[in-house]
Amino acid sequence: RPRVFSGIQPTADSFHLGNYLGAVRQWVGMQDDHDAFYCVVDLHAITVGHDPALLRERSLRSVAQLLAAGLDPDRCTLFVQSHVAEHTQLAWILGCLTGFGEASRMTQFKDKTQRQGTEGATVGLFTYPVLMAADILLYQTDQVPVGEDQRQHLELSRDLAQRFNSRYGDTFRIPEAYILKETAKIYDLQDPTAKMSKSASTPGGIIELLDDPKVSAKRIRSAVTDSGREIRFDHDQKPGVSNLLTILSALTEQSVPALEEHYVGGRGYGDLKRDVADAVVEFVTPFRERTLALLEDPESLDNILARGAERARAVAAETLREAEDRLGFIVAK
Ligand code: TYM
Repeated sequence: RPRVFSGIQPTADSFHLGNYLGAVRQWVGMQDDHDAFYCVVDLHAITVGHDPALLRERSLRSVAQLLAAGLDPDRCTLFVQSHVAEHTQLAWILGCLTGFGEASRMTQFKDKTQRQGTEGATVGLFTYPVLMAADILLYQTDQVPVGEDQRQHLELSRDLAQRFNSRYGDTFRIPEAYILKETAKIYDLQDPTAKMSKSASTPGGIIELLDDPKVSAKRIRSAVTDSGREIRFDHDQKPGVSNLLTILSALTEQSVPALEEHYVGGRGYGDLKRDVADAVVEFVTPFRERTLALLEDPESLDNILARGAERARAVAAETLREAEDRLGFIVAK
């Protein structure tokens, strides 16, 4: 079975709809016919200033949300990044293979430091994509289900794997991005030309899965739409409507053309928004209940994570040992 790896940052109180449709939903679907490793990347979460108590809380909430979304610890390996020390160990090695200029070209770092400049940014934020490459390569990953915003980081992972392999001998499998075209980028409801984002969106622009469903319904109803009245998918001319169609299509599993057809003749933006709001409420209501119920029992979450870390470590340790051997380190007896 092909190996899958992906990760999500515990940097907010709740995942948002973009995280779910762009990534987590695919994680759930890939459990059965893939050997899947999914990780809450707490090491990545400390690259920007953070509060320790909040990080712990958000990490646990992330685990609960992943389970509520449908990850099954009997069918996948679910763990927390900091539990497997090999991630930071391989990150160091890969960092010594990464060009400074190469890392400087990562657009996410450039975006995040655009406003305040690089002076106040941490070295950890700069080397973030290298740690991400280590995450992926440690598991000899075939496919990485992510949203569009991670594509460049995936390219770096591939380049680093190839570089290591050609310098030191075949060690890492070359991973491929698994990005579903339709939901690769869910847009901000208030600014449908920008992606929905934990850090950049205004509250009105984002659907947080653990919010009161009434709040989410209201945000959909207040979403920015476009001039004209026609309901048709056209990202350039009608970004707001197109984003709503994408969301509705993903949540109801109706195709976009079928939805366009449905709204022809008389039905307007108000009807579309009502339908999207209903679909969102129908999804988030049980999701939120399941998450809150899982959080009632933190001990069983800890047990799931302990099992996950053990399984992950077994694979990670073997890859790291091989990489260290190839690099010329004396293998510890
Ligand atoms: P993160 O935590 O920012 O986001 C988690 C996943 O959600 C996707 N995503 C979106 N998809 C569609 N539309 C959006 N608006 C949207 N916003 C976010 C992201 O693409 C991602 O798949 N660097 C990663 C975490 C990571 C990782 C890894 C991923 C660390 N190591 C190894 C894969 C493999 C990140 O910050 O994701």
